[in-house]
Amino acid sequence: MKFFLDSAHVHEIEHALTMWHFDGVTTNPRHVQVSGKPFMTAIKEIAALFSGTDKSVSVEVNPYHDEADAMVTEGLKLAALSPNFVIKLPATEAGFKAVALLKEQGVRANLTLCFSAMQALQAMRMGAYFVSPFIGWKESNAEEIRTMVEEIVAIRDNFGFETEVLVAAVRNGRQIADAAVAGADIVTAGFAVYKDAFDHPYTDVGLGKFQSFWDQTAYE
Ligand code: E4P
Repeated sequence: MKFFLDSAHVHEIEHALTMWHFDGVTTNPRHVQVSGKPFMTAIKEIAALFSGTDKSVSVEVNPYHDEADAMVTEGLKLAALSPNFVIKLPATEAGFKAVALLKEQGVRANLTLCFSAMQALQAMRMGAYFVSPFIGWKESNAEEIRTMVEEIVAIRDNFGFETEVLVAAVRNGRQIADAAVAGADIVTAGFAVYKDAFDHPYTDVGLGKFQSFWDQTAYE
């Protein structure tokens, strides 16, 4: 299973690549805004970190575009900047169409803001490279999330679509494990989510106990 970092912070991405062997990055307008850098500066700096690798960096088109042609024009411009870029498009009628148009031109798309199995199915039909169900946002809205991921994976497998299921807006390690059990290909989450998920309080307690025994034992 692939782990992506949901971030536009260069130092977080570097850590995830070097220490955690992560497989890619997803960005969105919020992440870029938080980085404090202009959009183009931020994505070019991230692209440089992935140069020469086959890992992906998802970058999102202007969210004000409401026509497929505008999304495609910007998608082509962004894709020309880096072979690692996958173009994020919203789950709207225009976004679905743009997925297909970009695919015709050899550009990979990540269908984002996906909140239902039906939207995911349409993304797959249109040739999306990734489909990103946002589980955290649905959970915040008191909606069921586990079944949606299971259904999306089942639909993909039933019909042999090549789209990879990228579970997004993941909030904790339990959700990462659930996505893995459901057969998702990828999860993306923020730096702090992974950091917490890789830890466990019992590991710290156990280490402390073992250190105590170690101190009371001769080495030779
Ligand atoms: C993924 O591609 C999305 O950018 C992301 O998971 C959105 O979730 P957020 O609420 O953590 O920003």
